[in-house]
Amino acid sequence: MEKSVIAKYKKAGEITQEVQELAKKRLKVGANLFEFAEEIESAIMKKGAKPAFPINLSINNVAAHYSPAFNSKDTLPEDAVIKVDIGVHVDGYIADSARTLDFSGKHQNMVKAAEDALENAVAIAKKGAIIGDMGATIEDAIRGAGFRPIQNLSGHGVAEFDAHTYPTIPNIANHDPKKLEDGIAIAIEPFATDGEGLVREGSQAEIFQLEDKKPVRGREARKIIEFVEENYRNLPFAERWLQRDLKMGEFGRKVGLRELMQKRCLTAFPLLKEEAGKIVTQAETTLILHDGKVTRLL
Ligand code: CO
Repeated sequence: MEKSVIAKYKKAGEITQEVQELAKKRLKVGANLFEFAEEIESAIMKKGAKPAFPINLSINNVAAHYSPAFNSKDTLPEDAVIKVDIGVHVDGYIADSARTLDFSGKHQNMVKAAEDALENAVAIAKKGAIIGDMGATIEDAIRGAGFRPIQNLSGHGVAEFDAHTYPTIPNIANHDPKKLEDGIAIAIEPFATDGEGLVREGSQAEIFQLEDKKPVRGREARKIIEFVEENYRNLPFAERWLQRDLKMGEFGRKVGLRELMQKRCLTAFPLLKEEAGKIVTQAETTLILHDGKVTRLL
């Protein structure tokens, strides 16, 4: 990994750390989540970086992929267990992180289970570490605390302008014999629950990603594709960003996104909900493996 690349990863990690602190300080019961999301994302940009994906503010039984819609009236409910998942990139080099804030005070053990699982996995992550062993470490920590890991969610590699790439870092002992290689970046993200330990997709999606650039007919679809390609490439984006940055109204957004989904130019990331409707916690950080060493970005 080149020195300049390492420096960019580190910078992304520092900014992620700062905005995670800001998010923790600013988030209050009753807060409007749309305004909060925009505040955090603009803080990232003011620091000279960009969101690597829309901020995820998934609450209670929603494990991932909730990001508020434009002008949404959604507020942070009382007793919420909220996963603040933030990705930041500097010239395409990404730090991905998540923290769980427990406004109920009743799920501290589950928050700690995910955090301890993360720490244990980080402790063994290095060049040559067996990927299945990382999953086993995570699973042991979460089950040892009396919870279940979410088995169909996993950590992942990150690469230049790529928020989800090889390798998959499982949250269970899946016995993957492959080894971590030098020169990669990985996000480790254990999820704990008092439910089934599985998530399924909901119907609502606010987050999309450009998959395949094909010729499209509609004016809105064309505008969206050009805008996303120029500004976000293959990183996930929020529908609300089309309003914010492109000044595209709701009707245009819906028409354009529908055509792009039908033509399979876009992938949607629907909400991921815990199968039994139970609480989910998450902890996440990003590591870079370089020169035989491990550097934790935050
Ligand atoms: Co991640």
